[in-house]
Amino acid sequence: MTRTTREKAELLKEKSRKVEMGGGEKAIGKLHATGRLSARERLAILFDEGSFVELDKFVEHRCTNFGMDKIELPDEGVITGYGKVNGRTVFAYAQDFSVMGGSLGEMHANKMAKCMDKAMSAKCPIVGINDSGGARIQEGVEGLTGYGKIFHRNIMASGMVPQISAIMGPSAGGAVYSPALMDFVYMVKQDYARMFITGPEVVKATTGEDVGPLELGGAMVHNQKSGNAHFVADSDEDCISQIKHLLSFLPANYTEKPPAIECTDPTDRMEDDLDTIIPDSSNRPYDMKKVIKMVVDNGDIYESQKLYAPNMITCFARMNGSSVGIIANQPRALAGCLDINASDKAARFIRFCDCFNIPLLTFVDVPGYLPGTQQEYGGIIRHGAKMLYVYPEATVPKITIVTRKAYGGAYIGMCSGEGGPDMVIAWPTAEIAVMGADGAAKIIFRKESDDVKQQKIEEYVETFATPYQAAKRGIVDHVINPRETRPAIISALEMLANKEGKRPDKKHGNIPL
Ligand code: HXC
Repeated sequence: MTRTTREKAELLKEKSRKVEMGGGEKAIGKLHATGRLSARERLAILFDEGSFVELDKFVEHRCTNFGMDKIELPDEGVITGYGKVNGRTVFAYAQDFSVMGGSLGEMHANKMAKCMDKAMSAKCPIVGINDSGGARIQEGVEGLTGYGKIFHRNIMASGMVPQISAIMGPSAGGAVYSPALMDFVYMVKQDYARMFITGPEVVKATTGEDVGPLELGGAMVHNQKSGNAHFVADSDEDCISQIKHLLSFLPANYTEKPPAIECTDPTDRMEDDLDTIIPDSSNRPYDMKKVIKMVVDNGDIYESQKLYAPNMITCFARMNGSSVGIIANQPRALAGCLDINASDKAARFIRFCDCFNIPLLTFVDVPGYLPGTQQEYGGIIRHGAKMLYVYPEATVPKITIVTRKAYGGAYIGMCSGEGGPDMVIAWPTAEIAVMGADGAAKIIFRKESDDVKQQKIEEYVETFATPYQAAKRGIVDHVINPRETRPAIISALEMLANKEGKRPDKKHGNIPL
């Protein structure tokens, strides 16, 4: 039978309509009843209107096991394609839970893998929306092999294009490792979003532990306790809107500079309140987030891992319209000490920024690495070493602002010393020393009387609790009044705009993990 052109167009329309119905009205209605969007609805709000191009729309599964030859799976449980997000090209896949629980079989995995291959060829970011019952049980080993294909591409794309993952449904078993291999993981704070290696039933059977799915792997657990997730969202809509916000800070790939927008905040803005933000007593806390907000464009920051290791702040912001990555000690939590979790959090963030040419601003107020058996047994030496490794490894512009304490090994760990920063700016309140005065007195003046000890402490404070010892030796480049911080950083970033960092020739380094 030969079809007319009009009939061919009608056939395409009919086939498309069938695929676009996904698992059908009933299955989609079930999702809506829990406040969950369908895969297509999620992509529709991710991409600029009318820009989404769906790939592999008519792919079908080949499995015949367990009567699968009689089952139709429109879209194969995953929708893949590309489109524009705020005018810039992004690739995405969204698993469709309405179709066999978004389970991953051979062709489902092939669609995802092809989408990732195209993203890598086009050097564009990848957004993955996860909502799946895991490996499609009927397909057996094909599903497992499929995961292997995806993990492989996650690794190949790492450092080449930004990879963002959103957990908007179940993600269990080996399936959790694709999100874990990507740069940022979002989780929706709703009952349907959970991520774990083994679910509550297996936990109960193997360990006897009674734990509910959210308590085991809900959004708050991964944002607060495990550190597996970087961002929490209230709803699907909020999650996608946050992903678009994150993309606005990022370049499309490792060869590009991050996008710059017009700056509406004066670049010479002085901030008088910064002059008085450091308390007179060296041991009193203050809010480093306030400092950062007073410095960056329009006070806007977007924090990664906001709820995890709060003694360390990691966030994106803009200076004079261009993206920067900010790493800062938070004196309000654990006095801003570097501990295992803070080191892991900051090190990964720094490496991400370096992959994608985002300059680093480091605000330092660090009394040292956190002491104690818990930290030592947990491997603070190995984890803390990551901080020493990642700064010298990073070739992007690195500007350090020492607001108060920069003590001991943590001083180097926070990009203050040799091999680290391009520019060290210190406030007059900076204290760059091996340790604080009390600790020093207990060691070097321990044989002295209390009166003498007190006098020595005062001398030590006078000598070392200032930026001038370091400035005398050229370790600090610039001592400024705190109010001048914004213009000083913008000037340093302009000076470093053409920096081209080089690393010695080798295969790759071996970061302590
Ligand atoms: C085939 C699946 C499926 C799967 C769900 N479905 N998961 N089909 N393979 N893995 C189907 C269900 O049979 C059902 O079909 C539909 O999807 C919706 O599922 P429900 O159970 O009705 O939904 P809900 O109550 O919301 O529960 C969701 C769920 C549950 C928690 C995900 O379905 C579940 O526990 N599924 C199995 C999870 C699992 O053990 N996966 C394997 C993990 S191991 P009908 O026709 O009734 O609508 C793994 C290995 C990866 O993934 C290794 C990588 C290296």
